[in-house]
Amino acid sequence: MSLNYIKNFYKGCRAQSLLLQPVQTHNTSVVTGASEGIGRAYAFALAEQGMNVVIMSRTKATLDQVAKEISDATGQRVKVVVTDFTKENVFSEIEDQLKDLNIGVLVNNVGMLPSIIPCKFLESTELDQTIIKVINCNVKTTVKMCKIILPGMENRGKGVIVNISSGVASIPCPMYSLYSASKVFVERFSQGLQAEYKDKGIIIQAVAPFGVSTRMAGFQQTNIVTLSPEDFVKSSLHHLRAGDKTYGSVCHTVLNSPVPSEMEETFDQMNTPPDDLVVSSVTTLISTKPVGAEEN
Ligand SMILES: NC(=O)c1ccc[n+]([C@@H]2O[C@H](COP(=O)([O-])OP(=O)(O)OC[C@H]3O[C@@H](n4cnc5c(N)ncnc54)[C@H](OP(=O)(O)O)[C@@H]3O)[C@@H](O)[C@H]2O)c1
Repeated sequence: MSLNYIKNFYKGCRAQSLLLQPVQTHNTSVVTGASEGIGRAYAFALAEQGMNVVIMSRTKATLDQVAKEISDATGQRVKVVVTDFTKENVFSEIEDQLKDLNIGVLVNNVGMLPSIIPCKFLESTELDQTIIKVINCNVKTTVKMCKIILPGMENRGKGVIVNISSGVASIPCPMYSLYSASKVFVERFSQGLQAEYKDKGIIIQAVAPFGVSTRMAGFQQTNIVTLSPEDFVKSSLHHLRAGDKTYGSVCHTVLNSPVPSEMEETFDQMNTPPDDLVVSSVTTLISTKPVGAEEN
């Protein structure tokens, strides 16, 4: 954990209440995938900070229940938008539903795994459909929601966009290749966008949790590294000024700490292939000749 991280974290803690005050005058927040898990916790936390909330997911009955719980607990107004982000052509309807609102905070939270059981890319069931669904839900939705909401923030010179990535975006992740790659997109898009809109007074941040006890994570027992959605969100909101990417909590930042340099050297050695594995040309890799067959 670098000194810079600690400095930014404490700056974020101090800044959080100051930050949300001016944003509250643009007093609606929008949270995708908000009927349970991390999204629900963001919706609750933002309402507790005095914001009205728009919550979005596929299941109207659950959204209505969450809306009631939030407004009973906080007195804030909650609007429900039922949508399926894996589908094509949902965004003009969403834009209509949001058009008269002053949106100060967007949490692009919705995300899905290609399959509940980790598996190799080609082993996902209905692979073509799965590819479309994961890209639509995890990638396209983030971009389209920014396209809809960012112009209002730019005009008002204020706003916060939180894009939920994942700790697995930081490393190549076999068995979750499509998912982790989709989260790399979320991070690079967020970071580029932050550079473009920082001077407009807008904070755009990728948040990359590791374990949070939700349906997606099999409701794992909470402990020092697996946080409840509420604890994770509380902590991540303290990191809003911690730069264009954060792990959202101290424990998840520690999980991603760099490998000590002496171990890096060992990894380098492990990664240097012996001479007989060095590839002289790509065609040798795709040749149909059996491995080890004699050259003519
Ligand atoms: N939990 C973790 O350990 C963890 C770690 C790293 C990153 N993340 C990321 O955090 C975000 C939230 O994950 P979570 O763990 O809170 O997930 P979750 O508990 O499974 O909740 C997902 C939410 O999204 C909604 N949703 C799912 N598919 C949807 C679709 N196609 N269209 C509209 N809404 C949809 C669900 O409601 P309906 O089913 O009713 O639509 C639900 O409200 C995701 O982006 C995930 O990748 C989670």
